[in-house]
Amino acid sequence: MRCPKFLLCLSALLTLLGLKVYIEWTSESRLSKAYAGPRGTLPGPTPASLEPTLPANLSARLGQTVPLPLTYWNQQQWRLGTLPVGDSTEAGDCQSWGTAAAAEIPDFASYPEDLRRFLLSAACRSFPRWLPRTGGGQVASCSDTNVPYLLLAVKSEPGRFVERQAVRETWGSPAPGIRLLFLVGSPVGEAGPDLSSLVAWESHRYSDLLLWDFLDVPFNRTLKDLLLMAWLGHHCPDVTFVLQVQDDAFVHTPALLDHLRSLPPIWAQSLYLGEVFTQAIPLRKPGGPFYVPGSFFEGSYPAYASGGGYIISGRLAPWLLQAAAHVAPFPFDDVYTGLCFRALGLVPRAHPGFLTAWPADRTTDRCAVRDLLLLRPLGPQDSIRLWKQLQDPQLQC
Ligand SMILES: *[C@@H]1O[C@H](CO)[C@@H](O)[C@H](O)[C@H]1NC(C)=O
Ligand SMILES: *[C@@H]1O[C@H](CO)[C@@H](O)[C@H](O)[C@H]1NC(C)=O
Repeated sequence: MRCPKFLLCLSALLTLLGLKVYIEWTSESRLSKAYAGPRGTLPGPTPASLEPTLPANLSARLGQTVPLPLTYWNQQQWRLGTLPVGDSTEAGDCQSWGTAAAAEIPDFASYPEDLRRFLLSAACRSFPRWLPRTGGGQVASCSDTNVPYLLLAVKSEPGRFVERQAVRETWGSPAPGIRLLFLVGSPVGEAGPDLSSLVAWESHRYSDLLLWDFLDVPFNRTLKDLLLMAWLGHHCPDVTFVLQVQDDAFVHTPALLDHLRSLPPIWAQSLYLGEVFTQAIPLRKPGGPFYVPGSFFEGSYPAYASGGGYIISGRLAPWLLQAAAHVAPFPFDDVYTGLCFRALGLVPRAHPGFLTAWPADRTTDRCAVRDLLLLRPLGPQDSIRLWKQLQDPQLQC
């Protein structure tokens, strides 16, 4: 009578043990799938590290070896010590740096106008905040008691009111640990209508606009990155993660938070996470938005996370600012961020849930979207519809 009971217990025990091993195994394989390993490559003698460092001579880090191409950026970077400081309003170094830069490029006159303008002012990086004349619109610092876990730093443009409002009503809506800020240039455009009073009203109403007094054009987006880093250093140094994202993205905030919270702490320290491009090269077709003249830059881009939306660890802000002082200006904000990370010896990590070139015809498939973290581009109406669908407790896939 005893024996069968004992056997029963034993088999029950063995079954439980097997179940435990199975559960652990499956959750581990699920985790290792979620943590898609670093896909970024970092050629050169410096191995990928988890701690940022900034050597005085960046040539090896940036893959620069002799013989060096005679192109402008490559030569400039080879020689560069530190970019001049000072803002464009001072009869400053930064302007003369730009003029000297232009003089070195034999076919500068044939460059597209936005690239010419970029080069002339590329070293001018400190701009004052743009504040409404009526007062108000102050953006609060992160207080000691209210340090965000994730700051949503959305690159917008003055006239994109609808896009901003859609973000406020959907993925940027108030939630514990989340803070939303928009990064915007001057509402006094160059040739466009003067949006000052509208933007002033909005800024007053929502207190979530970080405005600076520079012309808001695509080639000035790096200014938003750098001025944000400086702002963080003064006003929000303890933020854990920062999402730098375009205002036409859709962020599945709850899924993103889950993912960030599940990261190994060692990763979370030096995170640079998004849709990573490892093989990108300059496009040589004149007229396109990403055209890079042959005399400007030679070589391939560093591994970088698409500017549509990527996450960095907040503690890297001062490091990125320092790196940027030693990396020659490049017109595309996301490539430039990639160069700065590479200068720091850090690699981007790819996550398959970041889709920054999402085919428009799939956006209504909420089941396809449920497991994604970020997709783009999406119009305001589509964002609102999708957000509602994802909130639906009945959602079944
Ligand atoms: C940086 O290091 C390279 C060798 O990797 C050397 O040839 C070059 O002169 C150095 N540049 C500066 C500015 O010291
Ligand atoms: C960026 O903004 C500055 C300041 O307004 C301006 O001088 C510069 O021309 C702008 N850059 C481009 C590429 O237009």
